[in-house]
Amino acid sequence: MTQDPPREDAGPAATRLITTRAELRARRAAMDGTVAAVLTMGALHAGHLALVERARELADHVILTDFVNPLQFGPGEDYEAYPRTLEQDLALVDGLVDVVFAPSVQELYPVLPPMVSVTAGAAGRILEGAARPGHFDGVVTVVAKLLQLTAPHLSVFGRKDAQQLAIIQRLVGDLDLPVRIEPVEIQREPSGLARSSRNAYLGEAGREQALALSRTIAAARAAAPSAGAIRSVLREALERAEIDWDYAHALDPATLEPIGPEHRGEVLVVLAGTVEGTRLLDAAVAVVTAP
Ligand code: PAF
Repeated sequence: MTQDPPREDAGPAATRLITTRAELRARRAAMDGTVAAVLTMGALHAGHLALVERARELADHVILTDFVNPLQFGPGEDYEAYPRTLEQDLALVDGLVDVVFAPSVQELYPVLPPMVSVTAGAAGRILEGAARPGHFDGVVTVVAKLLQLTAPHLSVFGRKDAQQLAIIQRLVGDLDLPVRIEPVEIQREPSGLARSSRNAYLGEAGREQALALSRTIAAARAAAPSAGAIRSVLREALERAEIDWDYAHALDPATLEPIGPEHRGEVLVVLAGTVEGTRLLDAAVAVVTAP
């Protein structure tokens, strides 16, 4: 008689593609144990697989959602051109997740735009939201819906999209959604460069130049626990202008407002800049205990 392999070595027998809310609810209701949700817009890559891996470590079942959310695209942002690669996505996570939920727009939003939606408030209008009006409102609206539908115990989000993560943490806190948000560390190349599908647009010189981001993150981390020292690192990086910086801030993770001299506890360092026409992000959390 052959024994079943231990749970951690085995994925779900076969990943099931689900496209309707009714089928998702039925499937979810039949799941015993803990459930993790990995929310994506598809076009899956290694960064998503790190989220899936973390979800598998933390829960008995994993539901991956694969949905290009029209609400988070602005008028000039080419929602139509966003890559849709469901076949490839399914092959990538086959046997790693229990369910891929890939509804149509009509299935998820029978009426578009919805009459009732969620807003991210002022936090959604700064940093990445400054140039993308309504983007974070669209994100929190679909995240609220997908968390309702998947009803997970926890959901994993990458730290690289630091503003998105902070806003989703507030969504869950402010609306008392019964789910734990698990941040997943940024995946880095051996050089330190944060992994991103956009790195593919960089030439050799660009990749070298882009290291200004990860070097600044490393210097900011090393400057902790002094809030003032972190702020100096960021100021000096902006002054050196090794890349075309968009911003470099030390923020209160709960409010996304710049920290003052009296701030103690976690600080969110967020960087954005452009290299060879490609906009890159990096981020880190540090703890400050001194001015
Ligand atoms: O990070 C993303 O891919 C999207 O913003 C999310 C969270 C899946 C919502 O559409």
